[in-house]
Amino acid sequence: MKFLRWFKYLSFEVNLIRIFNNGWRKASHVMSGYLNRIGAGFIIENNEILDFDFVPNEIVGREDIQRELANKFSSIADSNSSCRAIITGPVGSGKTVLAKTFCRDLQKHLANKRDILVSHVNCRNASTSTRVVQRILHEIDPGHPDRGLSMGELLLSLRKLIRRNSSHLVVVLDEVDHMLRKSGDDLLYQLLRIDEDQQGKGTLSLILVSQEQVLDVLETAVISRMGKTNLLPIPPYNFDGLLKIAEQRAEMALHEGTYSKEILTLIAEKAAPSGDARLVIELIKAAAEASEFRQDVHTDRMITIKDVHSQDKILAVEMISEIETVDDLKPHAMLVLLSICRRLRKKESMTTGDVESLYEVVCEEYEQDMKSHTTIWKYLKELENRQIIVSRIDTVGDGRGRTTHLSMPHFLPTDIASRVEMLLKKRLK
Ligand SMILES: Nc1ncnc2c1ncn2[C@@H]1O[C@H](COP(=O)(O)OP(=O)(O)OP(=O)(O)O)[C@@H](O)[C@H]1O
Ligand SMILES: [Mg+2]
Repeated sequence: MKFLRWFKYLSFEVNLIRIFNNGWRKASHVMSGYLNRIGAGFIIENNEILDFDFVPNEIVGREDIQRELANKFSSIADSNSSCRAIITGPVGSGKTVLAKTFCRDLQKHLANKRDILVSHVNCRNASTSTRVVQRILHEIDPGHPDRGLSMGELLLSLRKLIRRNSSHLVVVLDEVDHMLRKSGDDLLYQLLRIDEDQQGKGTLSLILVSQEQVLDVLETAVISRMGKTNLLPIPPYNFDGLLKIAEQRAEMALHEGTYSKEILTLIAEKAAPSGDARLVIELIKAAAEASEFRQDVHTDRMITIKDVHSQDKILAVEMISEIETVDDLKPHAMLVLLSICRRLRKKESMTTGDVESLYEVVCEEYEQDMKSHTTIWKYLKELENRQIIVSRIDTVGDGRGRTTHLSMPHFLPTDIASRVEMLLKKRLK
């Protein structure tokens, strides 16, 4: 009997603990509920792919440049040969990814012919020549002691290591201008003549990477040593190039069906004035995160126009024009703009034909007589010159039909619409 009472008491205690635990679990769930959407993966399938350092398996739209670089390395399969290249270009033009994918592909391509070791050093993080050689050595031999060794000793170790491995070393000095500014070009000279005082040949190939200004810093002597013909200047990306990169990244990183080609077009148009591939990737990431963040049971799992503009203040550092640029437009240019905004609130782009019919509706609403077709065209040009809208000509079908698409990549259409509506109230009194 006593035992039964004791047992009941015990199970009561256990239940009490269980209730308490459940309550606590529920309470903590509510407390951290605001974190639920993080990592839920409604839109983003693979976060890493939207990272700057992510190197895609293939780069897109740079086939000519890849071929040119390969051309400069045409003798690399030969065991006695060394090659050189200097890649220059503006920010985000794909210099680093070009060098990285090239070296990786080269290793694979020569797998049965020549053993290629690659050392890619970013001279921004290792800006003295000693640090650079230490980094190179570390990549070949992670356990190599580097403290207290002189430059001469470090280079000697490097030579020995490569010979011992009977490999060919490709050194990529990325953002090399940092090292040149701090330590001069002595290391380049040393690396280029690494074979001169030994019997070996074809020990090391060198790829220098830098934004354009490098040419000012590189002495003429170095350029001629590297070979003037080994210069490979690459241009900034245009809209088409950026769109290809956007498509590749979105396809790899986002869930299918969460973005449209039109949204990626808008993103590429937004990044086009900068020519910077990094901006395109940042914009995709920002839009995807904004979309992910607002997901609940009622939302479409899609990136919207609003998501694309959500980080404008932070990302579009060099805003090409300010919203105030609409303030001194003629009243009918404002009416045209208003008709554009009304459509572009929901759609990424529209045709000039759409503008005319919507303008007619807006004129009725404001009790105004419509301006002529030519005047509307003039206003559209004006809006384009002020970079409020962007126009793109698409050829359709067999190439004979051409349609002009208008979009508003630099502003959120609702923002422009409310400003214009406010201004029109005063102007058309
Ligand atoms: N053709 C391409 N195909 C796919 N991705 C690309 C391409 N070009 C650039 N990217 C991507 O865009 C981003 C910027 O490119 P990258 O870092 O190579 O530019 P960069 O010219 O080295 O810039 P910086 O001058 O700032 O060093 C990277 O994430 C890169 O993977
Ligand atoms: Mg780079």
